[in-house]
Amino acid sequence: MAAPDPCPPAAPRQRRWRVVGISGVSSGGKTTLARRLLSALPTTAAYLSQDQYLLPDTHPGHPPAPPPLSGLNKDTLRSVDVAKMEADVRRFLAEDSPALEPEDAPFLAERKAFVGSALAAPNPFVGRLREASGLPPVLILEGFLLFGCSFFPTACDLRFFLTLTKEQCRARRSRRAFTASAMGGGEYFEACVWPAYESYLREVAAGVKGVQFLDGADPPDALFQKVYGNVVELLRSAEEAEGATS
Ligand SMILES: Nc1ncnc2c1ncn2[C@@H]1O[C@H](COP(=O)(O)OP(=O)(O)OP(=O)(O)O)[C@@H](O)[C@H]1O
Ligand SMILES: [Mg+2]
Repeated sequence: MAAPDPCPPAAPRQRRWRVVGISGVSSGGKTTLARRLLSALPTTAAYLSQDQYLLPDTHPGHPPAPPPLSGLNKDTLRSVDVAKMEADVRRFLAEDSPALEPEDAPFLAERKAFVGSALAAPNPFVGRLREASGLPPVLILEGFLLFGCSFFPTACDLRFFLTLTKEQCRARRSRRAFTASAMGGGEYFEACVWPAYESYLREVAAGVKGVQFLDGADPPDALFQKVYGNVVELLRSAEEAEGATS
């Protein structure tokens, strides 16, 4: 019988996923920034948007829009399936090698579909493998009310929040297509979008630690470089710390 190998090859070291949260004002550039980060990061990365957890219109959880508006107010957390998103993220982070193709993870595959989104374009889960980088993998979470319940800011290693003035936000929204045409209107903006955002901004500024506020009217490249630089710095310091202890 052959002698046992005195030095069997070490099992590949599992790296803890670093989590980057991007939240902020409607049309502030959250999705643009998150998707650019996903394609540029020199490591394995995945992207999950809160947009995919908006409840379907038929769900009784949505509050009505205030009179004289008819229809639903989809701009509060009551319209988001927060518990499902939290469960999905916990499950993803708990796995040694989480599935990066939604087809391999039924709980994420559901999120490829158009669930209850307010925007007329789905924003599905995306994962991308880059094994050779040596850097920890990154999960990018993005959503208009992402920091509104305690799990997500706690789970994030970095937290970014995009702001716009009321006029800038109104102007950007006026150029976009929504699933319910009333949601693109000026009355809905005044009665639902802006009050919900102001209240959320106050809550985050007062209660969520370590948030970096960014002006969403800055040029896209400047915003991207700032966020990208912060994320890469986090990954490199994680790599150094892990190298020092291994
Ligand atoms: N820094 C920027 N400067 C100018 N326009 C921008 C900038 N970032 C994004 N935009 C534009 O603003 C619009 C909204 O961008 P995006 O969809 O990324 O915002 P969002 O915060 O994800 O919006 P929502 O809350 O509706 O999901 C898009 O037309 C996008 O091209
Ligand atoms: Mg978006």
